[in-house]
Amino acid sequence: MSDTPTAFVILAAGKGSRMVSDLPKVLHPVGAMPLLAHALRTARSLDPSRLVVVAGHGAAAVEAAAAKWAPDAICVRQDEQLGTAHAVDQARDAMAGFGGDVAVLYGDTPFIRPETLGQMAAARQTGADVVVLGFETPDPGRYGRLIVENGRLERIVEFKDATETERAVTLCNSGVVMAPAPLLFDLIAEVGNDNAAGEYYLTDIVGLANHRGLTCQAVACDPVETLGINTRAELAAAEAVFQARRRTDMLDAGVTLVAPDTVFFAADTEIGRDTVIEPNVVFGPGVRLAPGVTVRAFSHLEGAQVASGAVIGPYARLRPGADLAADTRVGNFVEVKNARLDQGVKVNHLSYVGDASIGQGSNIGAGTITCNYDGYLKHHTTIGADAFIGSNTMLVAPVTIGDGATTGSGSVITRDVPDGALAVARGRQENKPGLATRLRERLRLKKADLAARKAE
Ligand code: UD1
Ligand code: MG
Repeated sequence: MSDTPTAFVILAAGKGSRMVSDLPKVLHPVGAMPLLAHALRTARSLDPSRLVVVAGHGAAAVEAAAAKWAPDAICVRQDEQLGTAHAVDQARDAMAGFGGDVAVLYGDTPFIRPETLGQMAAARQTGADVVVLGFETPDPGRYGRLIVENGRLERIVEFKDATETERAVTLCNSGVVMAPAPLLFDLIAEVGNDNAAGEYYLTDIVGLANHRGLTCQAVACDPVETLGINTRAELAAAEAVFQARRRTDMLDAGVTLVAPDTVFFAADTEIGRDTVIEPNVVFGPGVRLAPGVTVRAFSHLEGAQVASGAVIGPYARLRPGADLAADTRVGNFVEVKNARLDQGVKVNHLSYVGDASIGQGSNIGAGTITCNYDGYLKHHTTIGADAFIGSNTMLVAPVTIGDGATTGSGSVITRDVPDGALAVARGRQENKPGLATRLRERLRLKKADLAARKAE
């Protein structure tokens, strides 16, 4: 950005009543990541000197999320929501002694790009004391209006307080503000609440700064960046914007998406080039795919990492801790959780592999289940290299299958199987010659007899 050190204040105290939710608004997700985390990520990408989150409604949950996504963030509380200036004022002590610039972001506005903040910093460098981020829109609704005269931002008028002429202005306030910390808090101290909402408006600092003979400037960005979320419909719209961006990024990075509109990414999804994603695939958080992976249709991946040459799906589910080495196969209706599959392992059909490690080249037959849970505790299954697990084997963990061992189909394996051993654990087959024919004849006669009686 610029040489001036920058700190951030992220406003996240509002209730978000229009979400009609028990969850604080800023914790609703876009791209499987809370709105607040998006704002924190933008701020952190600029290497901030200080990062302050103002929490209020649902403060404990908001603070926990802040600690998770930005461990270096300082959380302060705004117990009563008296307006955006009052909210920023809660960061005054946390910013004590800081002489650099402060940028104010909203926790419910996830798409501001770091480059845009860079443009605001550039405006500060070229002499503006207070810089406000605005956007042009044909449909300005209830946004605050930026009143610019002769290239100078004179004041910001809130919709509620605006005249007809002011409401006709189409340059709107995004809410993002940048100013030197001492000046910002000085101006905020002067803000009153004599307005239509009875709130302390942060936007008033512009008029106050001009009154002091200082310079204010508006920087405009793409309206998509300033998309703020107030309702579920806006949350869905934001998700759509996010997904559209991610699909474009993935395509540009050399990932094949056969039907881009049907693939859903998380904010942290990482995919290598020449990976192919078939239609209707959903990525939850924490997925890393190496180059050259194939994910076939209707698969769901979360918290998984997959090495090159692996083929996942169709209809596969990778859950957290799935760690698939090169050239593995995880086929239809297979679920893998907290399990390491070494190179070339195949689990092709209808299986559950949880809390397990499987050695190189082993083949897991259809319908195999690692019985990992006894109702109280989880247990581990270890399968060596080049093992062959027969179809419909139940591996009752904790249990170890040796290298090169085989289990017979339908076995319930409760004891360890040594290297190279064949384990069969099921009823022994017995053939009774002619019995089926005799039995069928008896049943046929019985049925005929019943039909005859009914007819009488
Ligand atoms: C604000 C701006 C408006 C701008 C719009 C952009 C003011 C006075 N108005 O209006 O010019 O066009 O954003 O979306 O700044 N918050 C707190 N504590 C409070 C009040 C708000 O933390 O006491 C937080 C909210 O959680 C939210 C953000 O600040 O994240 C904005 O507050 P909101 O009430 O949505 O302001 P708007 O009326 O939308
Ligand atoms: Mg708002």
